Amino acid sequence: MTRSVPPPAELLEIAVEVARDAAATAHRMRAEGVSVAATKSTVTDVVTAADRAVERQVLDALAKHRPDDAVLGEEYGAAEAAAAPSGVRWVVDPIDGTVNYLYAIPYCAVSLAAEVDGEVVAGVVRDIFTGEEWTATAGGGAWRDGRRLRCSTETDPGQALVATGFGYDPGRRAHQARVVAELIPHVRDIRRLGAAALDLCLAAEGRVDAYYEKGLAAWDLAAGGLIAAEAGLRVTGLRGRPAGPDLVIAAPPALFQPLHDRLADLDASGGP
Ligand code: IPD
Ligand code: CA
Ligand code: CA
Repeated sequence: MTRSVPPPAELLEIAVEVARDAAATAHRMRAEGVSVAATKSTVTDVVTAADRAVERQVLDALAKHRPDDAVLGEEYGAAEAAAAPSGVRWVVDPIDGTVNYLYAIPYCAVSLAAEVDGEVVAGVVRDIFTGEEWTATAGGGAWRDGRRLRCSTETDPGQALVATGFGYDPGRRAHQARVVAELIPHVRDIRRLGAAALDLCLAAEGRVDAYYEKGLAAWDLAAGGLIAAEAGLRVTGLRGRPAGPDLVIAAPPALFQPLHDRLADLDASGGP
């Protein structure tokens, strides 16, 4: 059997359709009222009925469009992540920024990406409350609402607005807080907005200058990481390693090295 993998633009078209419907469901469920359904890694790592319902909807929609693909999702990931004969794997965070969602803080999103043979080739991040939508395809640029995105042109680390986030494990947070405490005197300011995928999209259009975080999962990074990279940011880990759970740094070329070096000095990828 010959394998026919659709071009990134075609995968993106599916991703956008599925993410829009998913965001509409999340928005409707939020209006109906939200409560914690369960906790995961720690008592602050919550899951709502909406996280599960939205991911289920995404899985069902992808199964209709692309029945031979694999899907890795945050809530049902293990069950659905088997190797795909098609070579395509979808990576979904049904609600990135669940704590914001729970508190009705308008900064949370559906994140959906398509990988081909392990490389992210298309991604969409759709803000559940505002409807803002960021997209990218590998080699095709990053876009929001018809506008091509370029990252910040800031060159002075001391003038950089840097977004970051914290994990759910108390020990990890304590280490992350120490890193932030040492970093903040050297940058314009820090933002902890609460949704990694959206942080990467803000960096893609220069609404923050750079972003870093330890502990991201594949579903936090896949779509937003491609969008940031296609907007001109360098998106890597420490010392030439790929971006991943140890550390993600997304910075414009001029800011990358100073931010990288400071984060390396501060052992930003260390701790639990
Ligand atoms: C979290 C958010 C948060 C980041 C955490 C993520 P979730 O995802 O993106 O901003 O700091 O690392 O786990 O749990 O809301 O999907
Ligand atoms: Ca997430
Ligand atoms: Ca989530």
